Amino acid sequence: MLRESLSDGTVTIRRFDLNDLERDLEAKDEEQIKWLWGAEDREKWVAMSSDQRRAHARATIMMYRDTFGPGPKWSFAVDADDESYVAYVDCDLANQHVPHGQANVAYSSHPAFRGSGYVSRAVRLVFRYLEENTEATEAHINVAADNEPSLRVARAVGAEAANQWVDEQGNSMIRFVYRLR
Ligand SMILES: CC(C)(COP(=O)(O)OP(=O)(O)OC[C@H]1O[C@@H](n2cnc3c(N)ncnc32)[C@H](O)[C@@H]1OP(=O)(O)O)[C@@H](O)C(=O)NCCC(=O)NCCS
Repeated sequence: MLRESLSDGTVTIRRFDLNDLERDLEAKDEEQIKWLWGAEDREKWVAMSSDQRRAHARATIMMYRDTFGPGPKWSFAVDADDESYVAYVDCDLANQHVPHGQANVAYSSHPAFRGSGYVSRAVRLVFRYLEENTEATEAHINVAADNEPSLRVARAVGAEAANQWVDEQGNSMIRFVYRLR
């Protein structure tokens, strides 16, 4: 039976639920959209009314909640101290930029909680989650070479820069690899 949450005493990663909707809408700022979204999703989001945005975010949270199980992807809400959903983190064993069966790890923080150390704690918990629940031996974090805050997370969790590559949009990317178990 898969665990639905994991905690280090300060930060907890857990399965999503619909109470996360308001915070999710608040957290979608320029930074998140710039670094984490593909060009197509960005254009669609810009064209949506606020009701459409809410319906879209709600459907995405339901998808995170309902696909949490056998994998290959787990999306977690991150709680910290007394605050709910301060960040998002996921791991995906079927990501096109990572060898099949190895994990791609991605993350984003609610703007009000950036710089609190919550994301690096959450990523360390995801590593533990992968070790306890999957056969993956590597976690990959692919970061745009000029995304300084994200480079800090990758370095803080002890992942090592492995190679540089160029994504479909022409962005220069650095692959960080963390050896699991
Ligand atoms: C990238 C992002 C998630 C980083 O979030 P964050 O809140 O800064 O992350 P953390 O606070 O956990 O910081 C990570 C490390 O950098 C340190 N740090 C954070 N801000 C710092 C600063 N201004 N100066 C020096 N160190 C800093 C933290 O202490 C932590 O190290 P530690 O674990 O040793 O304490 C956030 O900027 C974000 O949401 N960006 C938009 C989405 C995005 O780019 N996602 C990544 C795509 S690859």
